[in-house]
Amino acid sequence: MKKKLLSLMLVAAMALAAVACGSKEETAEAPAAAEEATEEAEAPADKAVLVMATNAEFPPYEYYEGGEIVGIDAEIAAAVAEKLGCELVIEDMAFDSIIAAVTSGKADFGLAGMTVTEDRLQSVNFSDTYAHATQVVIVAEGSDITGVADLDGRKVGVQLGTTGDIYAEDITDVTIERYNKGFEAVQALSQGKIDAVIIDNEPAKVFVAENEGLVLLDEAFTEEDYAMAIAKDNTDLLEKVNTALAELTEDGTLQAIVDKYIAAE
Ligand code: ARG
Repeated sequence: MKKKLLSLMLVAAMALAAVACGSKEETAEAPAAAEEATEEAEAPADKAVLVMATNAEFPPYEYYEGGEIVGIDAEIAAAVAEKLGCELVIEDMAFDSIIAAVTSGKADFGLAGMTVTEDRLQSVNFSDTYAHATQVVIVAEGSDITGVADLDGRKVGVQLGTTGDIYAEDITDVTIERYNKGFEAVQALSQGKIDAVIIDNEPAKVFVAENEGLVLLDEAFTEEDYAMAIAKDNTDLLEKVNTALAELTEDGTLQAIVDKYIAAE
């Protein structure tokens, strides 16, 4: 009798979680869960799933360490998923596929050091901001490019579909080389194939530290805000994510995650 009640409560809890986690899980798994609730209780793998779309080529926000995706975004997502009672699954993909993954429902949210832009707001909603960033310029040591104005007429590398890509388009007579990964642009710069790379400030610092002979220009392009992209019709998840983010900010978890990956200046 007690067991039965527990089962029922678990089913109810899972159904609730499924609302916030993936909707697919809710319809596909709920009936089965009802029959085997006692078994399900011990199997965390059956928790409703929250799918994050990212591009894990962007340290310190998301990158591979061994076979695992780690970084600020990965840890924020894990903390949010925990608050929502969902199991987090991270899907790595090309950066310019993330919005489509979210709008098509393939992923529940996109978290990828993604800048809030007017253009993207046409397709998705963004959560409250969790980080600020700037677009910066990386050049080879001793380069005659000393400021943004010197980029006119040059060959500039960017990661495809990023805000760096968009800003590069504003430069006069520029030749834009688009790479699938930010790191590939940096490599091309190291090899002298291009004159500069426009990329977000924190990944830029990591790439410059890891590759000899590269420097960051002092002058930055723009101020940007990072946020989580969520499908427009999923206002339930948006609300829950914002509540979770506020709690994680309030209790210092968010800052602790950032401090773990970014040394204070
Ligand atoms: N902040 C830039 C943008 O939103 C670049 C983000 C790239 N992120 C990544 N995970 N590769 O376009």
